Parts: sequence; C-alpha cells; structure tokens
Amino acid sequence: MNSKSLPGAVPALFPNPAERARIEDWLTLELAAARRRVQAGPVAPTIDMLQFRAELERFDFAEPQPLEGALRWAIERLEHGIVQMSNPRYFGLFNPGANFPAQCADRLAASFNPQLASSASSPVAVALESHVIRAVAQRAAFGGDATGHFATGGSEANYTALICALTGAHPNFSADGVRAFAGPVKFYTSRDCHIAWLKIAHQAGVGRGALRLVETDGSGRMDPDALLRAITEDRAAGAVPVMIVATAGTTGAGVIDPLHACADIAKQQALWLHVDAAWGGAVLASNRLRGLLAGIERADSITIDAHKWLATTMGCAIFISRRADLLSQAFHASTSFMPSSISGVDPYLNSVQWSRRFLGLRLFLALAAAGWEGLGAHIERSIEVIERVKERLIASGWRIANDSPLAVLDAIPPAAAGDVRALVQRVVASGRAWVAPTTFEGQNVVRICATNGETAIADVDALVAALNEL
Ligand SMILES: Cc1ncc(COP(=O)(O)O)c(C=O)c1O
Repeated sequence: MNSKSLPGAVPALFPNPAERARIEDWLTLELAAARRRVQAGPVAPTIDMLQFRAELERFDFAEPQPLEGALRWAIERLEHGIVQMSNPRYFGLFNPGANFPAQCADRLAASFNPQLASSASSPVAVALESHVIRAVAQRAAFGGDATGHFATGGSEANYTALICALTGAHPNFSADGVRAFAGPVKFYTSRDCHIAWLKIAHQAGVGRGALRLVETDGSGRMDPDALLRAITEDRAAGAVPVMIVATAGTTGAGVIDPLHACADIAKQQALWLHVDAAWGGAVLASNRLRGLLAGIERADSITIDAHKWLATTMGCAIFISRRADLLSQAFHASTSFMPSSISGVDPYLNSVQWSRRFLGLRLFLALAAAGWEGLGAHIERSIEVIERVKERLIASGWRIANDSPLAVLDAIPPAAAGDVRALVQRVVASGRAWVAPTTFEGQNVVRICATNGETAIADVDALVAALNEL
C-alpha cells in the first residue's frame, strides 16, 4: 500500500480558511460599494467593447493570477458593461433588481452546493422546495393535490406544460412521440404571447407550425371567439388540438387573457389549459390584487417566474400542476446509481433537469423575511410607480395605449417627439433611464415597466424628464 501523502489541494481553487475568509469579507465590501455606484450611475452599459474584447484576449489562462485581481477586474467590467437591473431607473423588461434574501440564498446555495436531483442527496432542500411550491399553489387556489417544481425560467416551465399536455393527450405519445397522433398537433395562444412558445414547439418535436397565434380583441386580450374558431377549423382539417395557453400578464402590455372564457373552452374541447403567468402570477402575493387572476385555479398547469416580479435572482421559475401522474409519466427514468428514485418526490423523475441547483431557497427566504404581505406590498408599490409615470406622461401630452391593471405602461409620445424607436434609443443611450420600444395592437409604443423595488419618486421624475427632453 502506498503511504506517501497526497499532493495538497490546489490553493487557488481551495484556499485555506483564513485566506477564504479574508477574500470573502473584502468581496462583501467591494460589492456593496459597487452597488451604490451602480444605483446612482447610468442604467445602460458605457464600456468600450472593442477594448474589452482585447482585454479578454489577454486572458489566455497560461499564467494564473491572484483571485482578488480577477475579481476586481470582473466587478469593474460588470459595473460598466451591462444594463443595470438594480438601478432604480431601469423601467425595462421583466428583469428585477434582485431582492436581498434571494441574494443571501445564492450565497448559501453556493456554499453548500446541494444536489437537488434526489431527495436522498438533499432531503432538507427537496422538502423545502416542495413546501414553497405548495404555498404558491395555495395562493392560486389550487387544491391539496397540486404538485410542481422549480425551473430555470418561464421557458422551461412552459415547455414542461406542453410535454404534460402531449403526454396526457395520447397514451402512446410517451413511446411514439407525435406519430401517436392521428394528425398534426396544434396548440393555441394569443398573438401577444411570449414568442418563446415557437422555440418550445420546435424543441418538443411538434414543429413550429403547431402553434396557432389567435387574434386579440383590440385591447391585447386573446379573443375567445377567434380561439374557438381556430380549434374548430383545425379539427375539421384533421389536426389534433392539445392545449390552450392563456397569458396572465403579456410581455408587451401586461394584459391578462380572459381566464374563465379560456377555461370554459378548454373544458368543452377537452384540452389542457396552461396559464403562462410568468410575470403576472406575482399578483397572487397581494390580497388586494389576486382577484385579477380569477380563473387561474381552473388551469391544468401554471408558470410563475420568481425571477421576474417576485424579484429573486435570475434563473428561478415555478411550474405548478395538479397532474403529478403526467409529470411522472413524462420525466421518469430508471438507473441504479441514483441515491433515491421515488416517483412524485425526486425532482429528477418529475422535471426536465437532472442535476439541479437549489433555486427554491431564494423564494423561501424572501417569503420567510417579508411574508406574503411584504411581497404583496412590493407588487402594489410597482403598480403605484406606474400610476405616477402615467399621470405625468398624460399631463405632458402623451397617450396610453394599453389598459393593464398591472405595472406595464405602453405610452405614445406627442407627435412632435418623432419616431418612437429613435426616442427610446436616445433615452437608453443617455443612461438616464431604460425603457423599451414595442408595438401594441399595431401602434408603436414606449414600454415602461416598474421592475425595481426601490424606484423612488425622483426616479419617476428623472424618467419622465428624459422621455420629454431627449
Ligand atoms: C409571459 C412570459 N412568458 C414566458 C417568458 C419567458 O420566461 P423566461 O425568460 O424566464 O424563460 C416571459 C419572459 O419575459 C414572459 O414575459
């Protein structure tokens, strides 16, 4: 037997405890200082990307360098090289300024690095995630039979919904794929849906042509009559409808599709109903506003992104369904090397991922620290921010195109402001605020969304000034 001692652990990768503590403490202070500068600085990147690429080229990884130097370099480049979601003048896409408990959760997850594939590997973490899923399902008035899991994003959760719908639609789908069906598969959502549905159709093997984009009613809601017509036409042509997707909080305009009407049609047509509440699902946190999603409890499945309006760090979504049997059918696998293989419990047997990160702790800690009341106050506050923006824009001659009860405004500038895209480009380039151009019901609009939980009235004024002055 060889009794020679082993080489030591590579110190650059596994520093000794004192060195680790020193760098961690230094990093905490550096990040706090960077955050203060980011919140007061420009929202858009200011970095010279040509120079940055040249700097990157110099990292040929031949000569190691001290970690602190690399960390300082990365912080500085991130400070100037990304759109800053933590800046309170970011009125952008659904990306949040991350809440602090979620950031703490990431530290814990990084430190313990639990593997959430199986309940035997991480019994506490798997049980904690299921507890949070059940709590969210209860807010959506799903019964005690609700199940689900954390996913990396709304796209993964929505993909899961389509796989469940297909698995439920034909007993042979699992073995034969789309060949099981008597005709081409179709599923339905509004033309204002999140367009990742096309990629999802592609990935699922039903083809992009399976997605029917249904007309809206002139105010951004899926038109139930047009939906029923599309299903009837498709059946007459020999196609096989499998799922209706209602969006609760459209990406462009924050509009909620008519959930009860969609549920009625799904029931009458025996189709899976999925509610894509990736962004809007967060209003379930507010006792005052959760009624806006009435009808969501009739869905077969729901997507809610915690990394949108619930402001966790990026890569944290929730898939909820009452059909545990279909999740198990769709994602089952069998192997002897896994520490446990319990259908309905072990995440690797019920979801797309195998190895998985501890995502649920982010929402758990946010809920533990703030309660539903605190998360509800965060949601209500965002809507108030948008109300203030709206008042000010109307007073300065703007018109509002969308009628959303949520925190997205699609605004049309006075004619003198000229082209909407050019205006948005000027505002973004100025670094004073960040908004997006989009179209709503055929009109070019400036899309303004309250996503940052720390936006103050001075930030609202700064946004409105930028929109009117540039
Ligand atoms: C309504 C809706 N569904 C799905 C998605 C996709 O979610 P993710 O970006 O988390 O994959 C988005 C993203 O903005 C969305 O707005």
